[in-house]
Amino acid sequence: MATRYDLLIINGVVVTDTEIGEYEIAIKGEKIVKIVGRGGLKDAKAVKIIDAEGGYVMPGGIDAHVHLDEPPLFGKGSTADNYETGSRSAVCGGTTTMVTFAPQKKSEDTLLDTLHATHAKAKDVCYIDYSFHLLVGNPSDKALSEFKTLREEGVSSLKIYMTYEALQLHDGQILDVLLESRKQQITTMVHAENGQVIDWMTAQLEKRKMFAPKYHGTSHPPMAEIEATYRAISLSEFIDTPILIVHVSTPAAASHIKQAQDRGLPIYAETCPQYLFLTKDDLDQPGFEGAKCVCSPPPRESEADCDDIWEGLANGTFTILSSDHCPFRYNDNVKGKKTPISAEYPLGHFKYIPNGCPGIETRLALTLSADRLDLKKFVEVTSSNPAKLYGLWPKKGGLIEGESDADINIWYPPGKMQEYALTNEMLHHDCDYTPFEGRIMKQWPRYTVLRGKVVWDKEGGGLLGEKGYGRFAERGASSLAGPRNEREWDIPL
Ligand SMILES: *[C@@H]1O[C@H](CO)[C@@H](O)[C@H](O)[C@H]1NC(C)=O
Repeated sequence: MATRYDLLIINGVVVTDTEIGEYEIAIKGEKIVKIVGRGGLKDAKAVKIIDAEGGYVMPGGIDAHVHLDEPPLFGKGSTADNYETGSRSAVCGGTTTMVTFAPQKKSEDTLLDTLHATHAKAKDVCYIDYSFHLLVGNPSDKALSEFKTLREEGVSSLKIYMTYEALQLHDGQILDVLLESRKQQITTMVHAENGQVIDWMTAQLEKRKMFAPKYHGTSHPPMAEIEATYRAISLSEFIDTPILIVHVSTPAAASHIKQAQDRGLPIYAETCPQYLFLTKDDLDQPGFEGAKCVCSPPPRESEADCDDIWEGLANGTFTILSSDHCPFRYNDNVKGKKTPISAEYPLGHFKYIPNGCPGIETRLALTLSADRLDLKKFVEVTSSNPAKLYGLWPKKGGLIEGESDADINIWYPPGKMQEYALTNEMLHHDCDYTPFEGRIMKQWPRYTVLRGKVVWDKEGGGLLGEKGYGRFAERGASSLAGPRNEREWDIPL
C-alpha cells in the first residue's frame, strides 16, 4: 500500500543554504520524510496538499536574538512582549524557532535558577519552538561551575555585555567566561561596546544640556563599538574559543571581524535589519519620535554604512541575521519609551530611553523584499547558520529528508504580491509601533508550517497555530568551527 503523507508541498522552488531547485516535499507527522523532483509526488496520497504555485519554499526562520518578558536591565522600562505575544508575532512573520535571553542579574550568583524561571515564563504559552541563551550578569564561581549543567539541560550558548552598568563585565570576568565556555563547548555571544566610553560621552552631552533622542546616537560613537569588537576578538583568540559578536552596526568593526576570520579564528558575527534599513536620520525626528529607533548600537551615520553591512552579509562576514527584538511601547510613560519624560525633562532624556526596537515579525519579509541578497545566502543567515551555530542543525534550519523537522515557509510566487507599505496594524506583537512603518514591501510568508502543522495561512485565516504548541528545543554543541587547538587551554609560556 502506498504511504499516506500528512502534508505535501508541491510546485515550489525549494531554497536551502546550499541548493535551489524545483522540488516537492512530503511530510509525515512532524518530519520531512521525502524530497523529490517536480511531479514526483503526483500519485502520492496525503491529508493536505499545498500548491506553492512557483513560490519559494524555505526552511522556517530562526531568530537567535530575542528579548521577551525582561525586567528593566538596560535603564528604565520593561519589554512589551511576553512569550505568548512575542512568539505569536514571530510565527505570523515566518519564524518557527526563537532563542530568547534568560537574564541573570548581577545580584544573583546562580544561572540555573534563571534558567528555570525563564522556562516557567515560556512553558505552555509559545506559538513556536524556543530555546534560551543564558545572559551572564555575574560570573561567580558558582555560575561558572554551572556551565556544565547548562549543557546537560540543552543550552549551549551564553551572552555577555561589555557595556550597561547593570550587566557589564570587566575583561578578567570575560576571560573567566570564555575559558569555562571553551571547556564546555559553549558559544559566547558578546555585546561589544565600550561602556566607559558611552558613559563619558553621555556626561559630555549632559554638560551641554543635549537631551534629545538623537543624542543617544552621539553617545554611542562608532569608536566604542570598534574598540570593544577588537578587544573581544583579542580575548577570544587568547583563550582560543569561538565567540559571536552580536548586532554589529559599524563597517570598521565588521572589517576587524573579517580580518580575524581571514586569519582562521572562530569569530562569528551577527547583524540586524536596523543596521540595514535605518540611519541616524531615523533618530533625528520631530519631538520625541526618534525614541522609537533608540537601540544599541544605534543606527549609524548614512546609507553608505548600511551598504557596507549588506556587503558583509553577502560576503560571509556576518554569520547570522537576527532581529534583536526588544520592544517597548512608545506611548507608555510607565514601562515604555516615554518613561524619561518628566517635569525636569519635558522632552525626555536620551540616557533613560529604553533601548530596543520590535522586529521579530518583520525580519524575514523586510530582508527578502529588499532583493539584495542571493536567496541561498538569505536562507543561510536567517535559518541554517543560526541552527548550526547554536546546535540545532539539522533538526532545524534545513530541509533534510528524515532529519529535519517540517518547519517551512512558503512565500508568494515572485511578482504575485502587490507592493504595499508596511504598517504596525498588520503586525501581531504587543507593541504600538514598528520602526519600519511605511517601508515598501513585496513579500510576506503565504504559509508557515511548524513541525508539520500549518500555523500561518495568510489568506486562510492568518494565524492558525496554537498557543502552547511551541516546545523547548534542546541544543547541542555548535557545528561551526570551534577552537583551533584541541588541547586544554593552558597559560602560554
Ligand atoms: C566584506 O565585508 C566586510 C564588512 O562590510 C568588509 O570589511 C570587507 O572589505 C568585504 N569584502 C571582502 C572581500 O572582504
